Parts: sequence; C-alpha cells; structure tokens
Amino acid sequence: MKQIFIIITLTLMSCQPHLKQQNNQMNQISLIPQPKLLKHLDGNFDLKSIKYIVLRNGREEERRTAEFLQKYLMPITPLSITDFSSISLNNDVNYFIISLDEGSDIPDEGYELKIESGKSIEITASSFPGLFYGYQTFRQLCPIELEKGEKPVNTQIPNCYIKDAPAFGYRGMHLDVSRHFFDIEFVKTYIDMIAFHKMNVFHWHLTDDNGWRIEIKKYPELTVKSAWRVDRTKEPWREQTPIQPGEKATYGGFYTQDEIREVINYADDRGIMVIPEIEMPGHTSEVFAAYPELSCKGDIIPVNPGSYWPNVDIFCAGNEEVFTFLENVLEEVIELFPAPYVHIGGDEAEKTYWETCPKCQKRIQDEGLKNEHELQSYFIKRIEKFLLSNNKKLVGWDEILEGGLAKTATVMSWRGMKGGIESAKAGHDVIMCPITHCYFDYEQGDSETSLENIGEFGVTTLKEAYSFNPIPDELNENEAKYVLGGQANLWTEFVQTPARAQYQILPRMTALSEVLWSGPGKHSYDNFYNRLRYLLNRFDVMEWTHAPGSFVVTIQAEENVGADFKVILSSEKPNEEIRYTLDGGIPSSKSSLYTSPFDVSKTTTIKAAIFINNKSGVISEKTFYNHKARGKRIKYVTQYNQKYPGNGHITLTDGLTGSDYHNDGYWLGWEGNDLDVIIDLEKIEAISKISMGFLEAQQSWIFLPTELVISFSTNGDLFESNQSLQLSDGNRNDDPVRKILVIDNLQQSAQFVRVQAISRKICPDWHKGAGGKVWIFSDEIVIE
Ligand code: ACM
Ligand code: ZN
Repeated sequence: MKQIFIIITLTLMSCQPHLKQQNNQMNQISLIPQPKLLKHLDGNFDLKSIKYIVLRNGREEERRTAEFLQKYLMPITPLSITDFSSISLNNDVNYFIISLDEGSDIPDEGYELKIESGKSIEITASSFPGLFYGYQTFRQLCPIELEKGEKPVNTQIPNCYIKDAPAFGYRGMHLDVSRHFFDIEFVKTYIDMIAFHKMNVFHWHLTDDNGWRIEIKKYPELTVKSAWRVDRTKEPWREQTPIQPGEKATYGGFYTQDEIREVINYADDRGIMVIPEIEMPGHTSEVFAAYPELSCKGDIIPVNPGSYWPNVDIFCAGNEEVFTFLENVLEEVIELFPAPYVHIGGDEAEKTYWETCPKCQKRIQDEGLKNEHELQSYFIKRIEKFLLSNNKKLVGWDEILEGGLAKTATVMSWRGMKGGIESAKAGHDVIMCPITHCYFDYEQGDSETSLENIGEFGVTTLKEAYSFNPIPDELNENEAKYVLGGQANLWTEFVQTPARAQYQILPRMTALSEVLWSGPGKHSYDNFYNRLRYLLNRFDVMEWTHAPGSFVVTIQAEENVGADFKVILSSEKPNEEIRYTLDGGIPSSKSSLYTSPFDVSKTTTIKAAIFINNKSGVISEKTFYNHKARGKRIKYVTQYNQKYPGNGHITLTDGLTGSDYHNDGYWLGWEGNDLDVIIDLEKIEAISKISMGFLEAQQSWIFLPTELVISFSTNGDLFESNQSLQLSDGNRNDDPVRKILVIDNLQQSAQFVRVQAISRKICPDWHKGAGGKVWIFSDEIVIE
C-alpha cells in the first residue's frame, strides 16, 4: 500500500512543474488564510537590510516571537534581539519590531503587520498568539528557500499593511493515534502544520480500541499491555487476523508523561492548546487487555488489530471500580494537560452488554434511570462532575446528548450539524466537525481509488471542504454564538505513516483554516485555489506531503434552459486546461479547449478531461438528452429528501443523467417514500416512449422501486391510461449501477405525465440495514 501511495504522489506532483513559480515575486501577495485587510504598498523590502529584531516593550511574548524570527531569517543574516530601550533608532538601518500592546484595540489573536522599505517591519498584537500569527503571515511573504534553512536568491518582499483577526476562536485539528501510533517527532510536525495554518487546537485522540497511548503511572499495565497489538500492517484493516496462540503483541507504542509534556510545551510555544481525549464508555476494548475486570463481561481481550466499530466491549457502568479507575486516570491527565478541556469521547457506545449486565441493570434501577441511554448520560454526568471539581470542562462527541446532556459540556458535532444545532439551542458550547466536511480520513478525489481507504463512506473534495460553514442557518444570531468554531478529524485506520497522514489533511486543512480564520464564504473557491497553488510550493519545500485532489471535470448545464443546452465545464483546478469532445471520442491534448459555456442542441455526449502538460486526468462523460420533458415544469407530489437534492427541482427534467456514484449531484433521493411527480409538457404532445434512470446501490440503502406507474392527462386533473412496470432487484450488494427503465410502444397524447415509483419502504431482512428506510434515486425522466 505504501508503495502505491508514493508512486501516486510523485506522478501527480511531477505533472505540475509549471506551478513551481516563485512565490510573492514582483509584489504579488498570496496568503492563506486571506487576511481581513490587506493593503499593497509600493515597492519592496529587502530582508537583507534588517539589522536588529527589536522588542518594543521588552516582553517575554515579544522575545518568544523574536526567537522564531531570528531562526527563520538566519540563512539571510544572523540577527541580534534587542530591547527598544537599548537602541537609538537610526534612519539608515532597518528594524524588525515586535510590539505587544495589551491596551490596543487589536482583538485577541489579531495582529497588524507593516512592511515599509526604508523603515521597518513591525508586528503589533495584544497577545502572544497575535504576534505569532503576524510572524506566520510574514513567513508566507518570504521566499520559500527559508523554509528549508537556505539562503534565498531573491530577498525582496512586497511592502504592505495587514490588519487581521480570526472569525472563530476555536480552530482545531484532531489526530487519532490509537489506530496507528505516531511518534512525538511527527506529532510535533503535525503541530507545526497547525501553527502554519493559524489554527489553535490540537485534539489528541489518545485512547481507542486499537491501542492505549498515554502513560498512566497508577496503571502501568495500560502501557505494558493495552498499547500493543500483533503486527498486521500488511493486511487490509478490516481483514486483519486476530492474535494467534503464543503470538507476541509487538506493534504500537505510547507516550511517556515526559514526552506528553514536551508536546504540550511545543504546542504552547505556538499558541496551540492540546486537548487530550480519553474515550469512554465505549471504544475502550484495549483497556480490557490489561484490566478485564472493568468491562461488563470481564474477559481478557488482547488489543485488536484492525477491528472496526461496532466493538461491543464496554466499561461496566454498574461497577464502582470503573469510576475509581477513570478518576485516577483523569487525575493524571488533568495534572499533565493545562488546557481547560478534557475530551471524554462518548461516541458510538454499543450498549448491548449493558442490557444484560446485572451490575448495569442494578445501576439503572438504583438511580431510577429509564434505559441504557440514560445510563450513558449518568456515566457522562458523573465524569463531568469529577472534571468540574478539578476545574476542567468536559468535551464529548454529540452522542453525549443522548439521555440528557451534562450541563456545562461542550459538544463536538460529528454526525452532521444536528447535534450541534440542538446543543447550541440548549445553550451549550459547540464545535462543528461534521462528517460531511471535516472527516479528512475520507477520500479527496478520483486520484486515490487505489489507496485503501475508508472511502466507502464517500469523498470530501477540497472544494467541498472549502464550502464548510460552521454556522448553520437554523441558528439565530444569539444561538450562533455558542458555536466556538470547527475542527477536522483524522481517524487513522487507513493511515499508517506520517506521509499518509499529511496526504489526508493537506490541502483540505488549508481550506478549513481559511474558513475558520477568514470566515465561511468570504472568498470564492477559485480565489482560494489560486492562492493555494503558491502555497503548495512551500509545502513541497517543507516536505509536507499533500494530495493532488480531484481531477474530475464537472459537466453541467445552465439552469435556465432554453431550446439549447448551455454547457458549463468546471473542475476543482480552476486554472488547468479542460479539453472536450462532442462526438463520443476520447479527449486528447488536441481536442477543443474549453474557454466559456457553449451550446448544444440535439442529444449529445460530451467527454471532457483536465490536461496538464498534455497529460489527461480522468475522463468525465455526460450525455445531454434533448427530449419533450426537458426544461418543463415538474410538480413534486412527494418531496425528495434535502440530503440528496441533485440539481434542485429541475433535476428530473434537466436533460442530464447521473453516474453510478449517488452523491455526484445528479440524483434526487426519496427516503422511505414513493417518488411521485407530474410533468407539465405545456401543450398536448404525442408520446411514444418514456425512459427513466434509477440508481441501484444496495450497499448504500438505495434500491430500485418495486413498480413504476405512468399515467397521462390532458388537463392535469384526471390521469388515466395507467402503464406499469414490475421491477425486481439486481443481485444482493452488487456494485452500484445506473439502470434505465423503459416503457415504449406508447401511442399517447397528453400534456401532463405522472410518474410514480413505488418504494419498498424498508430494507429487506437480509440487508445490513434491515427494517431501516430505503432510498429511491432517480436522475431523469426522458419523454419522447
Ligand atoms: C466518531 O467519528 N466516532 C466521533
Ligand atoms: Zn455492566
């Protein structure tokens, strides 16, 4: 796997050499996140002209910033750090002045950066993080050679004035070190990446089913036993062979408390808070490798290689020893981590064993709890009380809402935005990290299909990540204040190496950093991407692996359809060539170059691809069907689900069909109900054939309808001449496939056509979602 991964990275990087432009040459300024206010000033500042780094007020915060600068500028010239009081400013000398001004109106974490040739560079802020972010911005203005400690060829940087501050106070990155262990060297690199992006929280997921990673002095067996599993790195995650008799657990690792302190200090030096996560009550089977008596079952469970949720082993909520253990563990955690927060997990706790465990059932009775959900709530509230008594605030995944939310808890909304909305409305602080935008273990685009990945859940492209808005429409201004910010999560089942970890988060993290710093929707994706092109060069110099992203060309038509299709081609790489054909041929570097939307009138298949250095990316294909219903009004007797809104209300009559990927934007989805629509052809038309596209993707709960019923009307009231088609499913769990259902040999005259696709409503017994609602997906109703 590793090998494939490296090959992919190198090929895709090497096909973009023309991106290797010198950053910020000739007064061009390209920054991410984009500052709030940026004024270009005439002329350039020569970094060679700086003679001193000056601490305006002799403050320790100024000195810390100065030391970063001193090191960064060393390849140009060794600079001494001087107090303002001990120098007399001389007009012939340039200074780098660092100024902490707590009385200024610069907001917390904000800064001003002034670069004026012939004078000075000055960073002013009201806090250390502000100074540090001013330095980070300065860094992006500097020649990239400095990133590897080399003397730059060109030492000119553009004069400018920047006044900046973040939109959100919480800008986090999570790292799961349980599924795969990452040593502190990489953890520090991860923190460097967070700092570079002006993010300020490192959420350290220290414990989970596949390994316990933090030394706890009181429970040494946790790092003797729970931190190690058998080495199955060569087998795919879900298929890893369990430990065999007599086999030694050799794969894993843990952090000593000294190492943890080292990381915390490293992060603190960069204005980053480290939030530790100790999972409970579920995702804890690794603990039972060492302390089996803490589970409901009491069985010794060697640490699982490659296990996957649901893991049913769970802390026994009826056993007092469990709370003693957890409080002792948390005591050491609290002692170590200065952050005001402790994350206690709380997600995906499988309560099967609680249902039958006598101790858990007794607890339910004794405490007057209604069910196991309330038992989870009891568990969380009890831990919260302990944390509060130690002056720490509890953070948990959104499941902590179930059965009643602990009073002062902060909720991380991961299963979408819903938990976050509910929490904010109830007055709880919220951190938004929904799977739709913030799960960076998801794939990023077409280029990665050969990487073993969690991709069955889907793809989050760079553009999608950039479209994230942590503030949902459902919250009013007052409620929105509870949303502290956002975070991306990196789960590492499929992430074995530091390079792969970087690949997963870059450059989506860059997109998220701009959303959280500059504010959602402040800048267009194209604008962001143009700046990103420069930044990628810097990542290369720093040897930060990044993913090439999506090479897909999106083929769309303008919504306002006339007789012709106005075809729009776009991609996630706004500056790259798109070439296309209209005759079904494979696009080549000699095919038509797309420059602006163009018309097609008759039914046409368009094939298009990105070309970089004459090399083609994946080929997209779309057929535009010109038919009698195209562009005609459609009435939805039953509403499609807003989760799958396709191209909006025109989806079924826009002349465009979907692929076999349910989330490609061409499919409308109905969840648990029939599709029922009426198309108005605007005049009486002769109809001979109706064909309709459906998606069958049983693994995604998407089934064919059981029956298709078509009826006709001349006036829109009375529908008759029913035609129906009985349908049967394809093979169980086949790969997704688009199926076209056709009713032909019609001799019908009608203005209105009603189409009903009857849903089976619930998943069949054999299906993994048995009893749950099924989806019907349709993309187009072609009337000829
Ligand atoms: C989670 O992804 N289980 C928080
Ligand atoms: Zn129990």
